[in-house]
Amino acid sequence: MSTLQFDDVSVHYGTQRRGTTAVDGVSLTVPDGEIVGLVGESGSGKSTLGRAAVGLAPLSGGRILLNDKPVPLRGRNRPIQMVFQDPSSCLDPRMTIGASLRETIPGRAKTDRSKEVARLLDLVELDPELAAAYPSQLSGGQRQRVGLARALGAQPDVVIADEITSALDVSVQGTVLNLIRDLQRELSTSMLFISHNLAVVRYVASSIAVMHQGRIVEYGPAEEILTNPQQPYTQELLAAIPDSVHPTRRAS
Ligand SMILES: Nc1ncnc2c1ncn2[C@@H]1O[C@H](COP(=O)(O)OP(=O)(O)OP(=O)(O)O)[C@@H](O)[C@H]1O
Ligand SMILES: [Mg+2]
Repeated sequence: MSTLQFDDVSVHYGTQRRGTTAVDGVSLTVPDGEIVGLVGESGSGKSTLGRAAVGLAPLSGGRILLNDKPVPLRGRNRPIQMVFQDPSSCLDPRMTIGASLRETIPGRAKTDRSKEVARLLDLVELDPELAAAYPSQLSGGQRQRVGLARALGAQPDVVIADEITSALDVSVQGTVLNLIRDLQRELSTSMLFISHNLAVVRYVASSIAVMHQGRIVEYGPAEEILTNPQQPYTQELLAAIPDSVHPTRRAS
């Protein structure tokens, strides 16, 4: 059972009088085995909320609980793993893909680790031979798959995916989103899937939270949010989706 719970979480940057409240009293639950989509325009606080869950943004209020207990932020084998927009940021250019993956695998014998590297590459639908390659030899989409494999190698309870398809070509975006859906079915990992793009989020998420100026302004089953949005802000986000991928409008 892996449920991630944000309970009245606030993050304030700067001094009390001057500064930004990036996250303002957010309560949100990522239920066991589900993908919750988090959408909102640039600067609405999505990344800050995700980063708070892995200790990369300072809480100024509230609590973050994993299975009803405070999230451990230190030590190896952290139960919450984050995947970022730019996979290069987590891959050492001088290390092979295999070596990068081996790093994340919790303590096992060497031969077991090599097997585990092959299993992880297979899981993200990459050729296990790529273990010998360097990051510069991979395409952006392949690097992002390695980023995902690294996160999964730690056997996390929850994955936070922050704009993981935003830097990819549209065609490659689709294949990575398909992979996310497959992984969800196979592993039932709980996931907070962050994107500024509602069209991307609706493809993978079972429920959607809409963030605006540090607050969650609307939350519900993905279908409801997409077909019957209550908030004007959500309606604006929906209106911005191109016809070709719109859930209710038909492309002519
Ligand atoms: N380390 C920081 N120090 C100061 N202010 C910050 C810091 N990180 C984020 N902010 C501010 O917090 C607010 C929310 O930023 P955040 O990156 O969480 O938004 P976002 O929704 O992820 O946007 P985007 O879609 O562009 O990624 C912004 O006003 C941003 O300038
Ligand atoms: Mg962000």
